[in-house]
Formats: sequence, C-alpha cells, structure tokens
Amino acid sequence: MGIGSSPGEIAPQVDQRLAKAHEELANVRAELENERATRRALELQLTPLRYRIADAFNRFLKRRVPPLHRMAKFVTVSCVQWWQQERKAKPAQLVRAGENSLTNAHPQQAMPSTIPMPPIKLRTIVGPTDPVFYDNPGGDFIYPSVPAHLYESVFDFGCGCGRVARQLMLQRESPRRYLGIDANREMVEWCQHNLTPLNPAFHFEHHDVFSKTCAPENSPNRTLPICAPDGAFSLIIAHSIFTHLLQDQTEFYLRELRRLLRPDGMIRSTWFFFYRQDFPVLADHQNTLFVNENDPAQAVYYDYGYFLREVASTALRPAYFIPPQVKNFQWEVFLVGISSPGR
Ligand SMILES: C[S@@+](CC[C@H](N)C(=O)[O-])C[C@H]1O[C@@H](n2cnc3c(N)ncnc32)[C@H](O)[C@@H]1O
Repeated sequence: MGIGSSPGEIAPQVDQRLAKAHEELANVRAELENERATRRALELQLTPLRYRIADAFNRFLKRRVPPLHRMAKFVTVSCVQWWQQERKAKPAQLVRAGENSLTNAHPQQAMPSTIPMPPIKLRTIVGPTDPVFYDNPGGDFIYPSVPAHLYESVFDFGCGCGRVARQLMLQRESPRRYLGIDANREMVEWCQHNLTPLNPAFHFEHHDVFSKTCAPENSPNRTLPICAPDGAFSLIIAHSIFTHLLQDQTEFYLRELRRLLRPDGMIRSTWFFFYRQDFPVLADHQNTLFVNENDPAQAVYYDYGYFLREVASTALRPAYFIPPQVKNFQWEVFLVGISSPGR
C-alpha cells in the first residue's frame, strides 16, 4: 500500500491481508488441534501398555525371584493399608446439617480391582465401551484443569452407568460427596448396587424424565427440578448430556445447575457447536441442529452465539474451552458463576 494510494485502493488490500491472516490463524489452530489429538491418542494407547508391563514384571518376579516378589507384595499391601487407615482417620467435615440423602459422606476409597465394570449392555447405551474410558489407573484428578479443592462435592448430571463416578472413586483423593442422577433407571440401579456399597459417599438417583432413546418408559415430563439444596456442589459434571437435550430442556437445566453450584464452584460440560452464519435458513428463534429425525435428542448442535447468550443470562460465564480432538465433536466448556447476569 503506497503513500499515495486512495481509500478505494487501500480497502481491498486490507481485506486481502485480513483474509490471509485469518487463513494463517486457522492453519495454526488446525495444527494445534492435530497435535493435541495425537498426544491424547498416544495416552490412550499407553494405559493398557502400562498395565501389561506391570503385569509382566509382577509375573517375572513371582516366577524367578519369589522372595523378592513376596517382599514387594508385603511392602505394597502395607502401604495401601496404611494409606486407607490415614484416610479413615480423617472425619468427613464437609457435610452440612440438614442435607437429605447426601449426609452419609465417607472418605473411604475402594481399591481399583474391587470396583466392578458396568456390563457391556449398559456401556453401549452411554457410548464408549472400552474399559479404558472407565478407568483411572494413575489415581489422578480426572480433569487436570479443575482445581483440586473443587473435587470435594460433585454432582454428575446424566451419570449413565457410573463411568465418571468410577474414575472419581479411583482418584487418590476421591470426592467426599457425590450425587449422580440419570433418566435411565437400569443404569442408576446398577450404580446403586455395585458402586455405592464400595464407597457410601457416592449416591445415585433416578431422574424420572422422558427420553425416547434412553428412558422411554419414564414419566412424560420433559424436565424436573433436581432434588438437592442450592449451592450444594463445588464441581458439577455434565458430560455428554447437553449434547442430548433440546433447547427448552437445556435452558431449564442450565438454571438448575447454576442453582446447585457453590459460589466458587465450576461446571465441566460438553457441547456440540455450530455457527449460525453457516446456516442462513435458520430463523432467529432457531438455535439448534439435529442429525436424527426420529429422535432429535440423539445429537443436538447449539449455535455458539446462542450458547454464550444463554450462559450469560444464567449468571454463568465460560472460564475456558477445550476444543474437540475430532472436528465438530464435543467441546469441553468449563463454566463458573458470575454474581449478576451479563457482567
Ligand atoms: C451419552 S450418555 C453420557 C453418560 C455419562 N455422562 C458418561 O459420560 O458416561 C447420556 C446420558 O444422559 C441420560 N439422560 C438423557 N436425558 C436426560 C435427562 N433429561 N435427565 C437426566 N439424564 C438424562 C441418558 O440416560 C444417558 O445415560
């Protein structure tokens, strides 16, 4: 752009440069996403490998050097028993008086091998069936970006057959209180019978709302209030649930989750997004797209602009986003409270 250029000549040049910058930015973003996806895929492959190496080492010691194997076993078992005693010695202080079924908080932690895996039939309903997605062999906090102290009291909206609950139970520090609700009665009952006995801090309740695919035998209610007190939870997990709710349900449950959230708490949710400008046929009041004409709730995409407005009107704001590993798959969105809408 020369000094003597007229405004009519400059504008297209600026437009061109802007378009180029946008393109470069998109390329860098795509590269970053690819790199993240590769890293996560590697992690997933590494987990079973770690198990196999540990198993092989264990078998080798047992066969070749039995005294060393006995000693290693004795040390490991003693350490685990000491750790469990330590945890039991600390009372669960966090439960406030007057809180219904959540008052039985118990800091006990079950050993990984004693936690049953949900049957394949139930795992198929929620999606991922590979045990890797139900596991937490390292005992780490399951969402690295969530501050450790927020794992104290957890609400799991649409808990399914306890996939996330199981991972939380396997954390070195499992939550003092956990409540999971789900529309599918069979999955909730499986969790009540198989997970709660291992750690009574974990409660599961049936949420009697209609879902064509997951709970066709339920009441016809599209929404129901969640039976828990205001501000009861420091961490709310809504994994793969807003991706199955229609607009009126999403608006209702966003408000419910906001009500349940402790003032310093965080909501970890997942969403499918699209951009309204890519779909000019949408009327102003239409904010969702579906993939299945028989059951639209199979996958619900939300206009990103609508999503931002909706969370703001619920006195929430996105603290940060984690983009999907596969383009147009689920975004992880971490929401925190704001004191007044739109601030
Ligand atoms: C894709 S699964 C995800 C389950 C779990 N969050 C996980 O990550 O494994 C969606 C779950 O939401 C439940 N669900 C659907 N609509 C619901 C509603 N309105 N209230 C409670 N649960 C609902 C379904 O029964 C199903 O278990």
